Amino acid sequence: MSERPDGRARADDATPARRGGARQAQRWRAEFPYHWDADDLVSRRELLHFAVYTSGALFSITALLALLGLLRKAPAGPTQQVAHVAEVVEGQAVYFRYPHPDDEAVLLRLPGDQFVAYSQKCTHLSCAVYYQADQQRLFCPCHDGVFNARTGDPEAGPPQRRLPRIVLHRDGELLYATGVEA
Ligand code: FES
Repeated sequence: MSERPDGRARADDATPARRGGARQAQRWRAEFPYHWDADDLVSRRELLHFAVYTSGALFSITALLALLGLLRKAPAGPTQQVAHVAEVVEGQAVYFRYPHPDDEAVLLRLPGDQFVAYSQKCTHLSCAVYYQADQQRLFCPCHDGVFNARTGDPEAGPPQRRLPRIVLHRDGELLYATGVEA
């Protein structure tokens, strides 16, 4: 069998079986015509519908998540006096209970005269965290979890979520807890 320079066989070299198959394919095409142009249009229309529906769905999901985020962040809790400013020394922690008598919490005075307070319950498996002033962190001894003292964000170990932050209000020389941000 001779070949074209591109390696394909010449038409006149096709075997009878191959010629028969080609004729049958032509007959099928004639009997069942398919309009490729129309197919192209439908595809574009479908693509447009898909884009519109997907955009709408994404917008709805984003709006729902934003709403849930707002609801989650809304601090709620009783107003409770926590400490006198003079009692909170930089580098030391003041432990208290908030918002319920069983909920242990920790109040810190950070460099720069900033006061922050967190739930003492580790977000991994609920062990109590302790302040380590020399490293500016809250440490969970159960599995070596570490949280940033300024933000409450997890920095090392198994915890994936930040510590719940207790909202503080300063009125003169008194510090009050007014809610918990999850
Ligand atoms: S309970 Fe705190 S790291 Fe596991």
